[in-house]
Amino acid sequence: MDNKTLVDKVIEKYQGDSREVLEILLDIQGEKRYLPKEALNYVAEKLDIPVTRLYRIAKFYEALSLKPMGECQVHVCTGTACHVRGASRILDELEHQLGIDPGEVTEDQSFGLKTVNCVGACALGPVVVVNGEHYGNMSALKVGKLVKEYSKEQKDKEKKQA
Ligand code: FES
Repeated sequence: MDNKTLVDKVIEKYQGDSREVLEILLDIQGEKRYLPKEALNYVAEKLDIPVTRLYRIAKFYEALSLKPMGECQVHVCTGTACHVRGASRILDELEHQLGIDPGEVTEDQSFGLKTVNCVGACALGPVVVVNGEHYGNMSALKVGKLVKEYSKEQKDKEKKQA
């Protein structure tokens, strides 16, 4: 779906209510996996709000992204509890396995890697969150298995689509 059609559809869902701007942006991102510039400009025009406000919101909320995100979003908690339990080793392993740094996306766009600050499951640290699913008590070995599992899932999905 092109950006304008998508924006029209989402804005209609929220009856053009500019108070719902965060939900509107989340819905657009849900479809596109990021917030394209063209879509933001059109949202601003349709809701009659400055586009700079949309960029401020997009930068403020960690869940929003102005850059294309990977199909599998891998978030490594680097909050204090996870940090003392070895979050940096988990992050090193993920960087090594995926070949990217935090904030980047793999070339085939299948994985995106990010660090986050406390996801509220400190007792289970170190914690990794993949597409909203929490994985606790992580170890470098478990990271390898997790990446393999999601890579396989991705390949199966691609096969089905082909
Ligand atoms: S510090 Fe990682 S879940 Fe709280």
